Amino acid sequence: MSALSASAWGAGDGAAAQVMDQQVMVGRERERRLLDGLLVAVAERGAALVLRGEPGMGKTLLLDYASADALAAGARVVRLRGVESESVLPFAALADLLAPFRAGLADLPQTQSSALEGCLALAVGPPPNPLAVCAGTLNVLAAAADAAPVVVLVDDVQWVDASSRRVLLFVARRLSGEHVAMVLAVRSEAPEPSAWALPDVDPAGFPATACRTAGGPRRQAVPPGAGRSGARHRRQPAGAAGP
Ligand SMILES: Nc1ncnc2c1ncn2[C@@H]1O[C@H](COP(=O)(O)OP(=O)(O)O)[C@@H](O)[C@H]1O
Ligand SMILES: [Mg+2]
Repeated sequence: MSALSASAWGAGDGAAAQVMDQQVMVGRERERRLLDGLLVAVAERGAALVLRGEPGMGKTLLLDYASADALAAGARVVRLRGVESESVLPFAALADLLAPFRAGLADLPQTQSSALEGCLALAVGPPPNPLAVCAGTLNVLAAAADAAPVVVLVDDVQWVDASSRRVLLFVARRLSGEHVAMVLAVRSEAPEPSAWALPDVDPAGFPATACRTAGGPRRQAVPPGAGRSGARHRRQPAGAAGP
């Protein structure tokens, strides 16, 4: 994006501008504050945020901002986006999400690793158990986040295939015990986020923007040096298919 004047965005006198790699974001202080808060908090407690707005409102630019912010803070950033032509391809987006974490699949309970390998077409077998896919994805992200917080930025959620979207929303609702943050950007014509069952609605601010932060108890502190096998049992969400 070329530099834009404040007035071009109706930001008024004194509007804050944030420069990111030659791009200038004008205004959006509230959204930036929400993102900053999410990214600071992830050291203690994960959460998910939904950016919802019309095309051209600046959702992708806010994801760029979040990415720069998170990288500067030493987090591991994973970016993916829904692609219209792949919206009918089950688990296309999940494959993008898990690509950087493939090595971690081996540390999951067998049921979960097999389910994820099935989704990613890495193994043949029966259709993957949906709960094992969801739990496995949460666990692999949570395990990776033991080393450094993980920030997952998903753009154009309206085009994410339905199978992957279910997994993303399952994970988004269960981040409070992990050092994982997620930001989901979606066009406002997509189904209301209330249908996604992410808690703590904050409907003010960014036109047609919704913010959700995942609630729930903080997980027990992990003893220093806790091994992968200990982590596996600790993280097993209730009802998850076990080994
Ligand atoms: N607050 C802003 N300040 C400056 N430029 C902006 C702002 N919001 C959006 N833009 C610019 O408008 C264009 C559309 O923004 P984009 O982030 O792609 O919107 P969306 O993802 O919501 O469709 C881009 O060129 C982007 O850089
Ligand atoms: Mg966009």
